[in-house]
Amino acid sequence: GFLLGVLLSTGVFALCVRHFNSDPQNGGSGLVLKLGHSLDQQHPVHLALEHMAERLQQKSAGTVELQIFPNGQLGSETECIEQLQRGALAMTKTSTAPLESFLPEFSIFGVPYLFRDDEHAWRVYTGEIGKELLQKGSEVGLRGLCYLDAGARSFYTVNKPILKPDDLKGLKIRVQESQTAMELVEALGGSPTPMSFGELYTGLQQGMVDGAENNPPSFYSNRHFEVCKHLSLDEHARVPDILLISESVWKNLPPHVQQWVQEAADEAAEFQRELWEEKTAEVLEDVQKEGVTIDHPDKSLFAEQVKPMVDKLKGTPVGDLVNRIRELP
Ligand code: GCU
Repeated sequence: GFLLGVLLSTGVFALCVRHFNSDPQNGGSGLVLKLGHSLDQQHPVHLALEHMAERLQQKSAGTVELQIFPNGQLGSETECIEQLQRGALAMTKTSTAPLESFLPEFSIFGVPYLFRDDEHAWRVYTGEIGKELLQKGSEVGLRGLCYLDAGARSFYTVNKPILKPDDLKGLKIRVQESQTAMELVEALGGSPTPMSFGELYTGLQQGMVDGAENNPPSFYSNRHFEVCKHLSLDEHARVPDILLISESVWKNLPPHVQQWVQEAADEAAEFQRELWEEKTAEVLEDVQKEGVTIDHPDKSLFAEQVKPMVDKLKGTPVGDLVNRIRELP
């Protein structure tokens, strides 16, 4: 088929996409795009990716298949990003946090208490700033397709409720592989310990760390609530997820396939945005049934404590982004 001819023209491309015979009867050839991510199959982000796979299948009449590998099967988020750069993996869904080591501008999303609310955050993701950053990825081989909601991140600990920053003193808190996340926990008085998401359950269970921070659906779907009995909704940062495609894969896709992929990604983001709120409320109920105590600490105590970290950004490119975001209605 025509796809095969176009696509096999580069060696890199052959590495990460597999062609299949979607319709043996008429000999039509198809294309498989592999996507790796670190979340569990019941997580709303995974459900959105499944939605994308369905949409892509429909749009392409079965000629393009999105094959999803959840639970870190293809490696940690950082490892998946590196595989995309090399063209060894077609797609990944990652938090923007580890992406900041590849594209420093992405540290903007780790800035604590940056967004006023959901609406404000979505205005950034889908507006000028969000689009600029998605495009910037191409410079380092990582094309951004869309953002996915990842709510707000809060602390959870094995046995000590976090009601004020001081409560973090002496606690080892797992953070993502991100400088900004390290700085944030340090500013609040805790000891940040970077670790991949896949290693965290064991890390908590074996006492390598005393707690972590994440959004409620991730706290729930990876069963961290079995070990951590205190969740403090301080909502210190709203770090979105992002869907990336390897630039070398993308530029070898025919324009109409590129269009299907982009459309299916946008539809998945919309689908997930609606699902997110509902799932978050649901899991907050569920973890309480499992014996987790939820606290609602005074967020201003935390915001005050991290202010120097944000002020320090003045005059830097990320500081300029902070200003642009704050000025948005
Ligand atoms: C969020 C995010 C994941 C990420 C995780 C983490 O849940 O959606 O992509 O792996 O945070 O803390 O590592």
